[in-house]
Amino acid sequence: MKKFRACVAGMGFVGKAHIEALRRLGNVEVVALCNTSDAQAKADALCVPKGYSDFREMLDKEKPDVVHVCTPNDSHYEISMYAMGRGCSVICEKPLTRTLDEAKRLADYAKTHRIMNAVNFNCRYYPQILQAKAMVRAGELGEIRTMHGGYLQDWLFLDTDYSWRLEPEVSGESRVFADIGSHWIDLAETVSGLKATEVLADFSTFHKTRKKPLKPIASFSGMALRPEDYEERDITTEDFCTVLFRFENGARGSCTLSQIFAGRKNQIQLSLSGSKCSLFWSSDDSNELWIGHRETFNEKAAKDPSILAPQARFAIDYPGGHVEGYPDTFKHGFRAMYAAIESGQTEGSDFATFEDGLRKMAICEAVVQSAHTDRWVAIEE
Ligand SMILES: NC(=O)c1ccc[n+]([C@@H]2O[C@H](COP(=O)([O-])OP(=O)(O)OC[C@H]3O[C@@H](n4cnc5c(N)ncnc54)[C@H](O)[C@@H]3O)[C@@H](O)[C@H]2O)c1
Repeated sequence: MKKFRACVAGMGFVGKAHIEALRRLGNVEVVALCNTSDAQAKADALCVPKGYSDFREMLDKEKPDVVHVCTPNDSHYEISMYAMGRGCSVICEKPLTRTLDEAKRLADYAKTHRIMNAVNFNCRYYPQILQAKAMVRAGELGEIRTMHGGYLQDWLFLDTDYSWRLEPEVSGESRVFADIGSHWIDLAETVSGLKATEVLADFSTFHKTRKKPLKPIASFSGMALRPEDYEERDITTEDFCTVLFRFENGARGSCTLSQIFAGRKNQIQLSLSGSKCSLFWSSDDSNELWIGHRETFNEKAAKDPSILAPQARFAIDYPGGHVEGYPDTFKHGFRAMYAAIESGQTEGSDFATFEDGLRKMAICEAVVQSAHTDRWVAIEE
């Protein structure tokens, strides 16, 4: 097995999760990280040999095999393009970019120059999601009729909660859909194997102004600041969003997304109903998949490698009854991505590529247009 040298750009919440998952793989050495502030201190704290404040310097000096892009959305394009220009494979966080145009350019460059690329839609690697996908592919659900669910969080519940995600110039024109709705529609399309064709979206911003801290804070840190530490800022992106979907086979779908739903920390749920049976999965109980029947008892499939479909087993490293969750999805996803980088083949892989990231950006663009114009909008192919 090839040993890889990786660099990680952005050392907030998710950058650390990338490093932890990479170390669990065993064949990837994280040789350096970069972060705009306290880079060497962050590197020292994580036992990474070198910390850089500038990604260009890091990539030029370290010449890694792979770079992980874990910065806020506005720098995904610049860092990914710079890395690809040096022949470096890129694993980028979702959403792929801040704008649809940037996503098009990244996907195009990667394709033309045959650079291995991936987007970390990690939810694809929950074993029960892979089981659901295998059941759909095997025809066990029959024809898919409806898909619904949503993604609820509460970390922006208070008007004192603040993040770069609230600033469209950093995060993009949509907040809730781009940030968490992209995960939901990625799951719905991946599990069902169906593409959404049209959307009708409704946005609402309940906190029209928020108190922006005068010093930087990491996402989800829950850090308490005093009133004199804030400035008022107008908010233009959505706190809450509902979307209706039409899918290519005539199936219908809907999702409800919120970052201000008190008590729901990070709950993504997906229901699929077919002509034979239905499925329900929730991240709150991610090791179970509910299977609903009309003419006999309902079932619950447990995360047990001895009984799940082979397509789900590869994403399980522990026996049944031993819970695997969010951090494991990163490990299993990265294992598949590095295997593809080593073989040069993405065929048969379950992970998202820049093409998939671009598709999610096209859906996001249609959702924003629909919310702004109050009408159904077709998704650009
Ligand atoms: N797949 C997932 O489950 C998941 C979860 C969380 C975040 N994300 C994505 O990961 C990205 C980062 O989110 P986060 O929650 O970790 O944010 P964060 O605010 O916690 O951390 C971002 C870090 O990047 C640094 N940074 C900013 N610009 C930089 C630059 N140009 N070069 C180097 N460092 C820079 C900041 O100083 C900060 O430390 C976002 O795109 C987000 O959507 C994905």
